[in-house]
Amino acid sequence: PTPLRIGIAGLGTVGAGVVKMLRDNAALITARAGRRLIVTAVSARDRTRDRGVDLSDVAWCENAADLAAHPDVDVVVELVGGAEGIARKIVTGALENGRPVVTANKALMAIHGAELATLAQKADVPLMFEAAVAGGIPAIKTVREALAGDRILKVGGILNGTCNYILTAMRETGRDFADILADAQKLGYAEADPSTDVDGVDAAHKLAILAGLSFGRPVVFASVYIEGIRRIGALDLHFARELGYRIKLLGIARQHENGIEARVHPCLVPNTTPIAQVDGVFNAVVAEGAFVGRLMLEGRGAGEGPTATAVTADLIDIARGNAIPVWGRSTDGLTQAVALPRAQF
Ligand code: HSE
Repeated sequence: PTPLRIGIAGLGTVGAGVVKMLRDNAALITARAGRRLIVTAVSARDRTRDRGVDLSDVAWCENAADLAAHPDVDVVVELVGGAEGIARKIVTGALENGRPVVTANKALMAIHGAELATLAQKADVPLMFEAAVAGGIPAIKTVREALAGDRILKVGGILNGTCNYILTAMRETGRDFADILADAQKLGYAEADPSTDVDGVDAAHKLAILAGLSFGRPVVFASVYIEGIRRIGALDLHFARELGYRIKLLGIARQHENGIEARVHPCLVPNTTPIAQVDGVFNAVVAEGAFVGRLMLEGRGAGEGPTATAVTADLIDIARGNAIPVWGRSTDGLTQAVALPRAQF
């Protein structure tokens, strides 16, 4: 069989991790995919930086958008990030050229997922984004494939590692918010602009994606209720402890008779619940189905290894011809859902 030739746009931690994983695990990946997966082209701003991987046999594209039409690329992996600009251009360009796309871009999928899914459907090529939600946790596969036969009633969880790390460290050390945020940034989990994390926007991107897949139609991102953790202080943590609770930034989406509820905000969760035990940079994805009951998956929601694992799994699905449509079905006639205003939950 012919190898699957991969072009990677954006060679940060995750991009370098994908190259490493494809090389270190080449034998098992080839066996599982039924063909070899090879990186043939990359694009990144800084060509000289040492990324710990040998890229001497790989073509460099000066212009990231050129990857979308590169003659030696079958699949485009977009790891640039951001809902607009170059990332959107690469993904749109690749789909318009009839190339499958794998992206880790939650902002792009939350805001433009509906339009990109339609493009992918028109071109009849896969658009995969397991890495966009909760890094190494198979969140997308769980709601879209494992629970395909069930009616999902509720989905969400701890969807931002930076906020969970900050809230955990504030509780354990009594140090203040700004001090701990600086640590989280050093750990490499925080977004380029950490307000995306601490104001709840990153968690909301992931929740909108999960809610869309769980309830069968894309959710209008602007309708998601969002509140972050900036206003949580030592006193809140003190009273939460006194009362037997922990404070977690949760994303919660539910299907109601009159529409979808989708919200992100700090919550008091009883100490004894499994989700209260998920601390530090860990994420938790919770889903509840009419038949399956309640599930909780815990794991690392960011970082090189977990995110590279999710990207590679998508590539293997594409290589095997196993990839499924974005909403798990045709996007024909699929209107976007507007989340209910807060008073109507
Ligand atoms: N900034 C995100 C987080 C990274 O802290 O969870 C993964 O999306």
